[in-house]
Amino acid sequence: MRAIGTVDEIPPGEGRTFAVDGQMIAVFRLRDGSLRATQAVCPHKGGPLADGQIDRKQVLCPLHLNAWDLTTGCSLSGQPDLAVYPVHADDNKIILGDA
Ligand code: FES
Repeated sequence: MRAIGTVDEIPPGEGRTFAVDGQMIAVFRLRDGSLRATQAVCPHKGGPLADGQIDRKQVLCPLHLNAWDLTTGCSLSGQPDLAVYPVHADDNKIILGDA
């Protein structure tokens, strides 16, 4: 487990990209306050997933609007699945890794 940033860096309903050991991770702050973390680079053509639209369940890549389940990483539109990472908030800290 490690702290990679602070929750208040991410407006509710949006995502931000964090660099972790040279890897880019997208962290999303859902409107219910929970967090999700996925690979940041879209497996379709490299779009910035953290800039995509999210709802309670999915993220839409901003480039071509392919969709993925934010919890499982499963593609909802026939693309390769996303890597997902365990993430939670501890006060204002974003903690990546199993609790
Ligand atoms: S680059 Fe993400 S859907 Fe095409």
